[in-house]
Amino acid sequence: MTVTWTSGYNIDEAVPFVEWGLTGHSPKQSPAGTLTFTRGSMCGPPARTVGWRDPGFIHTSFLKELWPNTMYNYRIGHMLLNGTIIWSKIYSFKSSPYPGQNSLQRVIIFGDMGKAERDGSNEYACYQPGSLITTDQLISDLDNYDIVFHIGDMPYANGYLSQWDQFTAQVEPIASIKPYMVASGNHERSWPNSGGFYATKDSGGECGVPAETMYYVPAENRAKFWYSTDYGMFHFCIADSEHDWREGSEQYAWIEKCLASVDRNKQPWLIFSAHRVLGYSSNSWYAMEGSFEEPMGREHLQKLWQKYKVDIAFYGHVHNYERTCPIYQNQCVNTERDSYSGTVNGTIHVVVGGGGSHLSDFTEINTVWSLYKDHDWGFVKLTAFNHSSLLFEYKKSRDGLVYDSFTISRDYRDVLACVHDGCEPTTLAS
Ligand SMILES: [Fe+2]
Repeated sequence: MTVTWTSGYNIDEAVPFVEWGLTGHSPKQSPAGTLTFTRGSMCGPPARTVGWRDPGFIHTSFLKELWPNTMYNYRIGHMLLNGTIIWSKIYSFKSSPYPGQNSLQRVIIFGDMGKAERDGSNEYACYQPGSLITTDQLISDLDNYDIVFHIGDMPYANGYLSQWDQFTAQVEPIASIKPYMVASGNHERSWPNSGGFYATKDSGGECGVPAETMYYVPAENRAKFWYSTDYGMFHFCIADSEHDWREGSEQYAWIEKCLASVDRNKQPWLIFSAHRVLGYSSNSWYAMEGSFEEPMGREHLQKLWQKYKVDIAFYGHVHNYERTCPIYQNQCVNTERDSYSGTVNGTIHVVVGGGGSHLSDFTEINTVWSLYKDHDWGFVKLTAFNHSSLLFEYKKSRDGLVYDSFTISRDYRDVLACVHDGCEPTTLAS
């Protein structure tokens, strides 16, 4: 488990650490690293000018050798030079299941949440009007899920750095007790002439630096925000749509490696995710481009989703909800809507970018692949009951009720079965 927090203490002022352990046992202490960033590391205005605010010091500690599925208590400490320790309050978390382990495992996924003021101030832009209802719905349901994926566009600080603190305070009731995993969005990373795939100014000059410093992800290089992570029977490949994903790119090779590295007997539920819609969306601007996706997305990636039999792919960026049929080469390969079973013959693509930002409109064109659309704020919950049974639910933020759902029932032999190009060639020798 990784614990990250912010303080005003540099390393020559206090020693940061986490004290943690099981109830009734003597606690351990784990050291924390300290990072910060400077105005000079911002790529442009307003982050480098009027939006700049010193971020303080960002501390990260790794709690290791955890017993699976076990409740731990922890608190953050800073030991001052005179030996006094400044303590946080005590928090608790449940450790992750061992990869492949069978237990009830529940995952929350959404994108584009942002932040908002509870007193209604800062309403000028009113850019993320659904942010608080999503946050509050997740806070009210903390006992009923295990891990959260916020797939990009986190605070929409857009170069006004104090807004990162507003955002981290808003999600703290969740992020202090659940793994809060993130992806990189255009509002974290995009800036002209800064090595990203897009040249827009959506990050307000941040060019990824605050996100890559404040949020730990298990990436080989946090400036290239792609990583894999496991949660019991789930294997997640989280791509970075702000960097080139096309065939031949460094990221494409990594995506293939991530998808290929999962043992589906132990981790049958293979999930792909990226911030921008690399799969399918009926959002109006994608429809006007005629692509119904981020151009060059599925053209390059669908052969990997198909070869490695990805169950579900999730995207944000578009601020609404949409679910497709299981798709192979742009065709629906299954007429079922509610319960899928048997071999994996296509990938279900889900846009779940209605975390809180202003809603995006759908095109009036009805495509054959779009099964459910909702112009509202919401999030997805995945429940793995065991290695053969998965429940997908889409819930609205305003009431927490389920508006779209389906199940997948499947055994290992169904994943192994050769469908389309999902198997290596066989020899005729015996
Ligand atoms: Fe976005």
